[in-house]
Formats: sequence, structure tokens, C-alpha cells
Amino acid sequence: MICVLVGQVKVKNVGNCCKSVEKSTENDRNTATVKITIRRPDDWHLHVRDGTVLQTVVAHTAQHFGRAIIMPNLKPAVTDTASALAYRDRILAVLPADSRFEPLMTLYLTDNTRSDEVRKAQASGHIHAVKYYPAGATTNADSGVTDIGNVMPVLETLQEIGMPLLVHGEVTDPAVDVFDREAVFIDRVLAPLAARLPDLRLVLEHVSTRQGVEFVVDSSERVAATLTAHHLLMNRNALFTGGIRPHHYCLPVLKREQHRLALLDAATSGNPKFFLGTDSAPHARSAKENSCGCAGLYTAHAAIELYAEAFEQAGALDRLEGFASCFGADFYGLPRNEDRISLVKTPWQVPADYPLDNDRLVPMRCGETVDWMVE
Ligand code: DOR
Ligand code: ZN
Repeated sequence: MICVLVGQVKVKNVGNCCKSVEKSTENDRNTATVKITIRRPDDWHLHVRDGTVLQTVVAHTAQHFGRAIIMPNLKPAVTDTASALAYRDRILAVLPADSRFEPLMTLYLTDNTRSDEVRKAQASGHIHAVKYYPAGATTNADSGVTDIGNVMPVLETLQEIGMPLLVHGEVTDPAVDVFDREAVFIDRVLAPLAARLPDLRLVLEHVSTRQGVEFVVDSSERVAATLTAHHLLMNRNALFTGGIRPHHYCLPVLKREQHRLALLDAATSGNPKFFLGTDSAPHARSAKENSCGCAGLYTAHAAIELYAEAFEQAGALDRLEGFASCFGADFYGLPRNEDRISLVKTPWQVPADYPLDNDRLVPMRCGETVDWMVE
């Protein structure tokens, strides 16, 4: 149903999510949208690191997002309830007094994680998921799981208590081409796991391939996925535009255009299995511009704005709210945020960098423009 408001067109409902889209000229449906108002979004996959870095990066996310799932790949990793709660306190300590931003904590799964620890984590009320990194798959994944068989008892407990397992879905087998590691992981590990534990709640994090999308679509409603803004906006050519681009290197690595299009289709489909997770991953400039550069893009400075660009490209701004503000909360069994934010189509220039300890942090689109701005 389309109902005309004063200077506004109310567009499609997605679940209970409904938002207004303002057109630049009333009654002209071909003119560009200039303003959208959506329920406050959440980020279901975020790295904020620790120490002095927290101040810069938490502020970026807390500005516009209500909550974020905080990744536990610190050094040392956040493997137990006590360290997750202490980490939460350190995050809360850098927030301004009037901030309502809520960090949702996770535990890092190791070969030695015990079932009673995840029960304790859930009972704390602040720890919402367990993160599974195959050992060595990415940044600070050295203490990850060496063989899924080693953690079956704890995965059975997660299934029993309904706590989601967040999956970094890539094999580490050096014989497998780096661009195929997600698809191979699905065949070798994820599909057998979902078959063995059909009630386990799974999130395939930062899905990057058509095969990943298809797996999630074809699985039960207990299987979901997060999508990053960078995988929606860029394909692997962005790694090599005019030379090697270390700031576009992440894991899973950007894929071919056909995969990007499959991700964009999934994000904008209105399917509640797909929701926002930036995987914003700050690294110092010196660690990125390096003979062995770290994986990770920093997108927290412009996260919802970059997603708006992707959705606009797909002609699906009316689907942004479900993806960004509703489906993740529903999957995690948390209430949706009640307040709203507005985005306006006003291009702005991203700074060349931000301060980070004694180094600099180079954000996505540094020195270039982003089309949307939060009002
Ligand atoms: O690109 C990435 N960076 N992928 C990950 O899985 C980890 C992250 C990080 O922590 O830097
Ligand atoms: Zn991540």
C-alpha cells in the first residue's frame, strides 16, 4: 500500500518495519530519494579492540547504532565470562554519560571451552553468542578451534540453551584457493554441522559468496547471515585499482562481481535471515601498509551511510530498515530499538584518517565522498 503524506511517500512494509522515504518532488516517483527515516540500527558484528583505541572507534558506532555484537578476538582472546564482562566495562567506560549504546558481548570458542562456561555466560545476561574462528583463519584467530570435532559437546550445549554460534566460515587449508575458502567451508564444515545439530542457531558472518547466500536461504530459520557494507559495495577489483590496495584487504577477501550481486540481492530481498554486521575492523596504518598487511576494513565512521548507498544502488532503500534495524534483533530475541534516525542524501568527504594510538586509522573511502549523511 502506498499512502501519500505531506511531502512524503510511505513505502512497503517489511514485517513490522515501515519507514518513510521523502522524494525531492512530490508525486514524481522517478526523482531521487532525499531523506529516509528508519528505526535506530544495530551492528551485529563489530571489532572495537581495546585500550586507547576504544575511545575513537566506539564513538563512531555509538553515534548512530543502538547496540553492537562485540567480537572477542583480542590478544589474549575473550574466552570466559569474567573477561567478557570486564571488556564490556571498558567499553562502557569510554561512552559519554548520556549514551544509550549497548555492547553485546561474545565468547571466543577454543578447543578447551567448556559447556558450563557458556551456560555461565548466558546467565550473565550480557553475553549473547559464541564466536567460532577456525584456528589461524584471520586476525587473532590463533587460539581458535583446530577441529570442529573437539567442540561438539559445547556446540550441543549451545543448541540446548539457544545461544547463537557466530561462524567465521573459511577453511584454513593452504591447498584451497583463498577465493574458494568460504564455499569449501560450507561443504566440509558448515553443512555437516547444521545437519548434525539442526536446532543450533548459526550466523554465517560476513557472507561473501553466492554459495554462502544459497546455503543460508536453503537452511532452516535457525540459520542466518550478516553482510558487510564493503562486501556489498566492492568486488575484488577494488584490491587492485591502479596498484595494490591494502586498505581493501579483509577476510573473507572480496570476491567476483557475481558474488557481490548475490550479496546485494540477499541484503535487499527482505529475507529476515540477512542482517547488518559491519565487521568494521580497525588496524593501524602501519599494520595495513606493510609487507604482510593485516586483514580488515574500517567502516564504523560511515557504516549506516555506506549501507544506504548500497541499498540505493539496488533501488531498495525501502528495505534498509528491516535489514539494519529489525531482523538482527529478531534473530537474537532482543527488542527492536524504539527511536529513529534519519539519513539525508548529502555527500560529505571522509577524512584522510583518524588518530589511533601513536599511529593513524585509515577509513573506507578516505578522502572521498559518501553519498548519505545521518541528520
Ligand atoms: O578482515 C577481517 N578482519 N576479518 C576478520 O575476520 C577479522 C577482522 C579483524 O579482527 O581484523
Ligand atoms: Zn570480524
